Amino acid sequence: MKNPFLIGPRLYFRPIEREDAPQLAVFVNDPSVRRLLLLHRPLNVAQEYAFVESLERDQHQVVLGIARHESPELIGVTNLFGLDFRSRRAEFGLIIGDRSQWGQGYGTEATRMMLDYGFGTLNLNRVWLQVFAHHAAGIRAYEKAGFRREGVQREQHYAEGTFVDAVLMGILRAEWMPLTLPSP
Ligand SMILES: CC(C)(COP(=O)(O)OP(=O)(O)OC[C@H]1O[C@@H](n2cnc3c(N)ncnc32)[C@H](O)[C@@H]1OP(=O)(O)O)[C@@H](O)C(=O)NCCC(=O)NCCS
Repeated sequence: MKNPFLIGPRLYFRPIEREDAPQLAVFVNDPSVRRLLLLHRPLNVAQEYAFVESLERDQHQVVLGIARHESPELIGVTNLFGLDFRSRRAEFGLIIGDRSQWGQGYGTEATRMMLDYGFGTLNLNRVWLQVFAHHAAGIRAYEKAGFRREGVQREQHYAEGTFVDAVLMGILRAEWMPLTLPSP
């Protein structure tokens, strides 16, 4: 493992490095990934370098790279953003950008690891997210990780030629089931 920050059963999180910027651009521009995100414009490598550099100054967002124990190559990236330290709340984001890794439980594991970080380290009380209503795999992964459906925003987004509903999901600290063990 290279520079692990949080270690899960099969995955670990590590800080995003400047040299990860080209890989991040590949992840977010991939049409089969982008169609599931709220991204409408292309993101080039220069923008990703700027994004990585902005992270150390950003007090309202934490971004972590996702890798498997056996390889330091990123398979995805996850973040907690809109951090509100008064209400102890944050929004959750996740991209398993390497499509060959989908459907193996990594999305669920990464979600549970980020909840451990949010509740166990940042002392949050609530984590929430929004997901397209037609994104069954995302909703399933989030439910497996402990999120509950909280509501629907009808025709909230325009995607692939039609207006689509957004599902709001959330998990409270009292509902959190830790996955990772504290370091010895
Ligand atoms: C959404 C995403 C994180 C899921 O990651 P993943 O590693 O494939 O997720 P998991 O394997 O942990 O779980 C996916 C679940 O959805 C199920 N699933 C997959 N496709 C499905 C479909 N079309 N309909 C219903 N369920 C589906 C899987 O069977 C699995 O459930 P199971 O374990 O009960 O069988 C990943 O696909 C991704 O990053 N996509 C691109 C970016 C994105 O969508 N980000 C989230 C935006 S809100």
